[in-house]
Amino acid sequence: MKKTRLRQVFEHFDGEAKVFDEGILKSVPHYRQMIGVIVEMLPFPRQKKVILADIGTGTGNISYNIKSAFPNSELVCIDLSPRMLSVAKEKLASFSGVEYIQADVSAYRFDRRFDAIVSSLTLHHLETDADKHAFHKKAFRALKKGGYFINADIIIAPDKKMQDVNLAKWQGFILKSSSREFAADRYKKYKAEDRPAVLLNELDSLRRAGFRSVEVFWKYYNFAVYGGVK
Ligand SMILES: C[S@@+](CC[C@H](N)C(=O)[O-])C[C@H]1O[C@@H](n2cnc3c(N)ncnc32)[C@H](O)[C@@H]1O
Repeated sequence: MKKTRLRQVFEHFDGEAKVFDEGILKSVPHYRQMIGVIVEMLPFPRQKKVILADIGTGTGNISYNIKSAFPNSELVCIDLSPRMLSVAKEKLASFSGVEYIQADVSAYRFDRRFDAIVSSLTLHHLETDADKHAFHKKAFRALKKGGYFINADIIIAPDKKMQDVNLAKWQGFILKSSSREFAADRYKKYKAEDRPAVLLNELDSLRRAGFRSVEVFWKYYNFAVYGGVK
């Protein structure tokens, strides 16, 4: 039987959990800067007791930065892969106030209201623009008034020539930081598993979901950090 894409995504990350942190630095240019922007844009006073959700927590890099910046925050970490979550648990072991939920985010129902919902390199796994919009609406409903949604993600250019430049730049980065085999494997997985959206469509989707102050905080070729306020 043909494997579903969700199953493929699950097996990819569950299988790579232990080596994810090493691999992501070789596959995503300016990864640390990009995820740093998520935390920098959060508007809360450092000591405030805020509650946030990290969608597609992975090995907990964004959550770690959030807990370091906002030590009194409560954090809900949601991910499809139990092995990614267990690496996150180890990384965040010194922090309290972190909950781990293994779930497919497209089926997950938020059961509380958040000051912020953040995500990194995850929502491009949702199949269509309509699926992404359904998630944006769900996130909007789950935020408190004034709450922030911030997504760092891979995007696609609206034009083939622009996309070719983006992909060449990305491939160039991967080849420089790793091997031909690694670059070929990343590209194969990108084609099979990733469904990035056009950035302007994402911004439009956020507006239609009800967000205001929709903005791009950072962009580097086919990677961007963007979001809005409820
Ligand atoms: C590329 S990793 C990013 C991890 C982390 N956010 C980061 O930037 O380092 C993508 C993560 O999203 C998770 N994921 C993919 N599809 C998902 C879904 N439908 N629901 C929940 N998690 C999902 C994967 O298991 C994986 O841990």
